[in-house]
Amino acid sequence: MSSKKKTILKVIILGDSGVGKTSLMQQFVNRKFSQQYKATIGADFLTKELVIDNKNVTIQLWDTAGQERFQSLGVAFYRGADCCVLVYDVTNNKSYDNVVSWKDEFLVQANIKNPETFPFILIGNKIDVEENKRQINNKKAQQLCAQLGNIPYFETSAKEAVNIDQAFDVVARNALQQE
Ligand code: GTP
Ligand code: MG
Repeated sequence: MSSKKKTILKVIILGDSGVGKTSLMQQFVNRKFSQQYKATIGADFLTKELVIDNKNVTIQLWDTAGQERFQSLGVAFYRGADCCVLVYDVTNNKSYDNVVSWKDEFLVQANIKNPETFPFILIGNKIDVEENKRQINNKKAQQLCAQLGNIPYFETSAKEAVNIDQAFDVVARNALQQE
């Protein structure tokens, strides 16, 4: 008898306001991109069906508001998270500097029992920008990955759909292992 239990992977996306969290999700789930910035308020999720190693899974991506930090989201929001995606903007030093605190706050709020093994993925978004606007190069990004415990790292463009499927495939695989 096959198991009918549906696998839902709960993924939380964190990072400073404007780094492109909503845009990454929209590009991955709906293949859409908007140039206009509309700040996320509160939290909401999008889902997508995926096949990982012949297994049907539903990935549930929770978008959060960079402006609100952790103030308004309750503990219940993070309960059962299977993976956390940390996003910064390669044109914004501040967003890079804040990644570590997003991770630390997540571990506290989500009450993660084994912080060393919990899957995090790092994304440096907006790589489509002109070279002279870029503030974080690959070497600096690698330093951050090492600091975060050698977590997987992807450089993406939500605008031009670069590396989006690749990044979320690794997110889903890591979440599935955590499940
Ligand atoms: P909050 O909801 O405030 O936390 O912001 P967010 O992280 O969801 O950022 P959002 O996706 O709303 O994107 C912010 C702005 O950056 C928008 O104007 C997007 O069009 C733009 N943007 C997002 N991704 C990219 C990208 O890959 N390249 C470029 N050039 N712009 C992007
Ligand atoms: Mg948003």
